[in-house]
Amino acid sequence: MNDLQHRIERLKKEKNAVILAHYYVHDEVQQVADYIGDSFYLSKIATAIDADTIVFCGVSFMGESAKILNPQKTVLMPDETADCPMAHMADPAYIEELRQKYEDLAVVCYINSTAELKCCSDVCVTSSNAMKIVKKLPNKNIFFIPDENLGRYIASQVPEKNFIFNDGYCHVHAAISAEQVRAAKNSHPEAKFLVHPECRPEILALADFIGSTSEIIDYATDCNAKEYIVGTELGVLYELKEKNPDKTFYSAGSAQCCPNMKKISLEKIIHVMETGENAVSVSDELRAKANAPLNRMLELAK
Ligand code: 13P
Ligand code: SF4
Repeated sequence: MNDLQHRIERLKKEKNAVILAHYYVHDEVQQVADYIGDSFYLSKIATAIDADTIVFCGVSFMGESAKILNPQKTVLMPDETADCPMAHMADPAYIEELRQKYEDLAVVCYINSTAELKCCSDVCVTSSNAMKIVKKLPNKNIFFIPDENLGRYIASQVPEKNFIFNDGYCHVHAAISAEQVRAAKNSHPEAKFLVHPECRPEILALADFIGSTSEIIDYATDCNAKEYIVGTELGVLYELKEKNPDKTFYSAGSAQCCPNMKKISLEKIIHVMETGENAVSVSDELRAKANAPLNRMLELAK
């Protein structure tokens, strides 16, 4: 541990704080986290935490969800500008239009979304529970927001439902091209190709395994293969290598990096812990509305 990491450990005790981190943040940030995981794990664990303060090392929608689920806790964001562009890529007016058109519409909202979009939705999902939750819904018509690629993947697994797609996307995953993947496969013919469902359909078609970040890590850890091509943000390499020191991991080709996740630094964590700056605040009205689809997700995912 370096000096900054030691300082953070002291601050955690002083402030009765815990640190949550997504797999996409820098390695040294993951090293100070009390809990590291995918979006679903982090939202679930946020409801079970006993500390006064949660320092959320991730992007805005993650801290916002943690605050909605735990209004009595202080949730600090090390960098307030760390925001997921996809979280904004849906239109409440269009959601309302579709509700008028389809009587039994369920608006299924990927957790990578603003609180405003969650408010217009019937249920939230993450990449690791979307299939299970959509299958359980009584509705035939599903409007999946904001990610088209995840929506199309879930639709392919739940053919009994009628999906309407939205044109949102994650620029990090959508940038992975089939040419790059084919080149990586040619260079490493024995490697398994592991892909996040935020990638485009032609990339998913080349995959040996499709899953959330945690599912990708679990698959590689349980699998006998020695080599893997990774089709998600490369922050997952930290945990993949920790758990699998004898295995080799390659990028799918574009050195996938989420610039917003990478804004989180040890210095910024120390700053917010010392000053209490960047505390997430959600109005009571917004919280009450956005809490319902988040809680329904936690219920249906059980
Ligand atoms: P998961 O954490 O559900 O794998 O989602 C990946 C992601 O893009 C988070 O921003
Ligand atoms: Fe958003 Fe994609 Fe970054 Fe995740 S990886 S925070 S979906 S831009």
